[in-house]
Amino acid sequence: MVVPKPLPTWAPVSQFPLPFALLLCSLGGCFANGCSSFLVPPVPPEFIQGPGSKPNISVSLHGALTLTCEASGNPLPVVTWFWKNGHPVASGDTYSISPDGSILHITQSALSDAGRYACVASNSVANQTKHYVLDVLGTRCFWIKAMCWV
Ligand SMILES: *[C@@H]1O[C@H](CO)[C@@H](O)[C@H](O)[C@H]1NC(C)=O
Ligand SMILES: *[C@@H]1O[C@H](CO)[C@@H](O)[C@H](O)[C@H]1NC(C)=O
Repeated sequence: MVVPKPLPTWAPVSQFPLPFALLLCSLGGCFANGCSSFLVPPVPPEFIQGPGSKPNISVSLHGALTLTCEASGNPLPVVTWFWKNGHPVASGDTYSISPDGSILHITQSALSDAGRYACVASNSVANQTKHYVLDVLGTRCFWIKAMCWV
């Protein structure tokens, strides 16, 4: 039988000042998870270089694309995506963003998706920003549509 792993409970607790965190920790009976995770000092967000984290990315028109922006840190950073004009990228028909914010997925790229993106990983210690430049190949079809098979 598969026993589901308990979710780590330290992230919210670690936002309390250390003495309270330790008190909550001992009251909360979290010894099974190991109290040592409460003692990790605040760490600014740092990006984890995974697949899809290269700064310059190209995708063919109507192609799918995944950008990743995983970050470590303590407390665990929150990741937000921004468009080149500084507006937040919203999850919707065109873009889907994973619940923790670390993955931005474009199911079908359009010419208007090309440009600069930024992801910001923030925690109470610092903000870190990473930029992406997305090139949607097939732009010339815009100008010479008759010669274009798309
Ligand atoms: C990414 O693209 C930008 C502008 O298009 C260019 O200046 C930069 O050198 C490129 N970086 C890499 C790593 O290719
Ligand atoms: C991170 O950025 C936000 C928005 O610009 C700002 O309000 C906040 O103070 C920053 N946090 C840190 C730790 O610099």
